[in-house]
Amino acid sequence: MAEGGGRPLKADDGNIGNYVDRNVDRIVDRIIDIDAYQVFDSRGNPTVEATVTLADGSVGRGLVPSGASTGKYEAWELRDGNPNRFRRKSVYQAVANVLGPIREALLRLDAPHQGIVDQQMILLDDTNNRSHLGANAILAVSMAFCCAAAQSRKLPLYEHLGGGEGNLIPLPEIQIVGGGVHAARTIDIQDFMIVAPQARGFEETLELTYNVYKETELLLKERGQLVGVADEGGFWPLVERNEEVFDLVLKAIERAGYTPGTQVAFALDIAASDLYRDGQYRLASENRQLSTEELAKMLAGWARNYPIVSIEDPMDQDDWQGWQQIMDVLGDEIQIVGDDLFTTNVGRIQEGIARQSASAVLIKLNQIGTVSETLDAIQLTQSAGWRAVVSARSGETEDAFISHLAVATKAGQLKVGSFSRSERMAKWNEVLRIERRLGSKARYIGGEALSPSFGSRRS
Ligand code: PGA
Ligand code: ZN
Repeated sequence: MAEGGGRPLKADDGNIGNYVDRNVDRIVDRIIDIDAYQVFDSRGNPTVEATVTLADGSVGRGLVPSGASTGKYEAWELRDGNPNRFRRKSVYQAVANVLGPIREALLRLDAPHQGIVDQQMILLDDTNNRSHLGANAILAVSMAFCCAAAQSRKLPLYEHLGGGEGNLIPLPEIQIVGGGVHAARTIDIQDFMIVAPQARGFEETLELTYNVYKETELLLKERGQLVGVADEGGFWPLVERNEEVFDLVLKAIERAGYTPGTQVAFALDIAASDLYRDGQYRLASENRQLSTEELAKMLAGWARNYPIVSIEDPMDQDDWQGWQQIMDVLGDEIQIVGDDLFTTNVGRIQEGIARQSASAVLIKLNQIGTVSETLDAIQLTQSAGWRAVVSARSGETEDAFISHLAVATKAGQLKVGSFSRSERMAKWNEVLRIERRLGSKARYIGGEALSPSFGSRRS
């Protein structure tokens, strides 16, 4: 995409593509200062925070999250790699890149807006994966500018991002049990989540989730299996087989007084790229190796036995054939979500649409590195009739930008981890605030958000 470094773009440059028409691309006052520093995420790891100040005094802040089960095609997270500083994880170089070249280039813009700010940083970086400046440096500034522009326009962030149209309160997908690399591979499946497709509102969904979450905790206590929570706040499971988790959560749903399948259903993230080695999927907790066909068969079996409405990353990020197989077997009944497969990357999403590899795309800002490219990825996903699931990372912060992003873009689904820990609750709480502020304009989408929509499913 980049044609060369350093040249400040003008608002009327032809090559900013579909950035120009968007609500978020309104020109605001000049940027007069950019600051950046190292702060810490929910795992205690260093990350980048940036602030952007405009001439009218508006200030915006952006904090960057960080994945653990990262996809191979994600934008580059720049870490210093110095064994003497935060076990190689410090981000001082990314901070220096903001304070140096990024600051210098953006302060020169005379008519800043989101598209041009992001494009400027992309040109300055001049790599395919943002490895020169670091996607963490670029994203911190991209988010901070977006918040400053919203303040300058005296609009809440969701309205700045989406205009008056952004009013869709998303269906939450909430983790009850965490596994995979978020829980030292105690079980292989990374996320056991629940959705409440029939709940009439966001708060009702949260209440239902709360009850199931607490009931799961009680059950684990009774069974002597409670050891704590995994990276995203779901329970760290002490079980022998992956399927035991279904039985555990089913029991919790029933004890909480709900009917599985109608009131509460399962959504899974297999994170299969983390299981894949040499053409085989390794279930370490069960000491089994599966071929693509065998994994597809196992998942189809789960879909028959348990009320599953969505499966994310059922196959490895390069196993396009496996994705096709899954779509052939399950695509009509269950939402198939690509996370590591697409990495919020328009090129990869286009390829997936051409191959009909999935029916939904997981959207993570730091997989691609700018707000503009994230909006493009959502727009492409939706224009193909697919679903967008806005998502947090396993390493999170108190920043609740994604709650606004989900409402503004009418994504319809929001995945931020579990129902505990403030870096997760910050996102749910922000949706509550947005819903309140929208008042009668707010619309809750519920099970309609799923592909196929919950109401149209065969029972
Ligand atoms: P990650 O996990 O942030 O560690 O990549 C989240 C996910 O896979 O959805
Ligand atoms: Zn995932």
